Amino acid sequence: MTLVLCEMKFSPRRMFYSNKLHPCRDVILLLSFLAGVWTAPAHAEPMVSLKKPPASLEQWYKPANKRQVWLHTMFRLRREMQAIDEYAKTNALAADNQAALEKWIKRLDKDYNKIADMVPEWEKDIKPRLLPELEMFAEKGDAYRVAKTLKMIKRTCDDCHTYYQPLVTATYRSPHYDDIKVKKSDGRLQGYEDNMEQLSESVNRILIALDDGHNSIASKASQDLADQLQDLGGSCNGCHKEDEYPRERILGQATQQRFEKLQANIKQGLVEDSQKLMGEIAVTVCARCHNTHRIVYDLRNALLPEE
Ligand code: HEC
Ligand code: HEC
Ligand code: HEC
Repeated sequence: MTLVLCEMKFSPRRMFYSNKLHPCRDVILLLSFLAGVWTAPAHAEPMVSLKKPPASLEQWYKPANKRQVWLHTMFRLRREMQAIDEYAKTNALAADNQAALEKWIKRLDKDYNKIADMVPEWEKDIKPRLLPELEMFAEKGDAYRVAKTLKMIKRTCDDCHTYYQPLVTATYRSPHYDDIKVKKSDGRLQGYEDNMEQLSESVNRILIALDDGHNSIASKASQDLADQLQDLGGSCNGCHKEDEYPRERILGQATQQRFEKLQANIKQGLVEDSQKLMGEIAVTVCARCHNTHRIVYDLRNALLPEE
């Protein structure tokens, strides 16, 4: 499968600062966010196409594997490339620098070849013959050719990343919520989507009632909203495990205090103050959580429609 996201000429930096934004900008920015890099490097073609990663990659990720083996191999590759680059740049290599350089080249050789060992479908995308060349130039102390060869290796890294990285990150490393259930106070289990729809209804019920001066409805709905968020809070450790901080950050003491104040304001008929507090809750609770969770979730679904 090749997913053509958009066809346009662009330079990432110009898009970022330009006011006349192309509709594809958001997709690209989000993709970049997800992948942790710009989707298109400086020399990119004016079109970004994403390719579906080979099936054999799955075994190198959780839950099929105990560890994120593929990703950690990548982190090592980057460290090895940097070490070689930095040692090769120090002119008139001291003897121990030379030894270190050779050590890192051996490691790069091993890890670079692992790419095709782990995912045979990618064998044609790497150039292992460049490694013995790199070693030879290093032994000769030919810093110029070491740098040049390194650049050729780097190009194989970049090419693969341009086409594959976003979908791999979306497939194997972005959270999904289908298996996460919210336990209601009456013991029933609820999916995330239903919980979210209830939250949204409660928020709007409060805002409508405040607008129309129906204080008892606003009061009841704000109690419902607090309860629904309390229920939602029980689901956080489905992913965050025993880390209590994420829940505290979004649903902790500060949020509780806002809800207490909201109840008091509504009872006293302070409409404007209540509306202002609702705005704060929407930002510090809903938007703050959506910014880390929902954006990635929506993007994952958009990128991986077959699931
Ligand atoms: C875990 C942190 C979290 C909090 C807190 C949160 N949301 Fe969500 N929200 C999500 C995630 C994740 C999704 C996408 C998952 C889904 O829709 O199944 C989502 C989706 C939604 C959706 C779209 C539902 C749909 O039909 O696809 C709405 C509407 C929504 N949230 C409203 C709210 C409102 C309003 C609040 C605050 C009162 C809120 N959310 C608080 C995580 C959160
Ligand atoms: C044949 C494909 C392929 C080649 C060649 C390749 N990579 Fe990767 N690399 C990937 C994929 C796929 C990911 C995304 C992994 C993920 O997000 O879990 C990735 C991710 C990375 C990351 C992680 C980026 C981040 O912070 O999330 C680094 C670093 C990296 N690669 C370095 C390298 C280096 C250095 C080379 C070359 C020496 C290289 N890779 C060659 C496929 C490749
Ligand atoms: C399906 C998995 C999943 C669920 C459920 C989930 N999160 Fe997260 N959350 C993540 C991932 C992944 C990250 C980003 C990596 C990280 O920080 O652990 C994250 C990050 C965060 C962060 C930012 C990092 C930090 O520690 O400050 C906060 C805050 C957070 N989540 C709060 C919540 C709250 C509150 C809930 C429950 C209402 C929740 N999360 C439910 C997966 C999840």
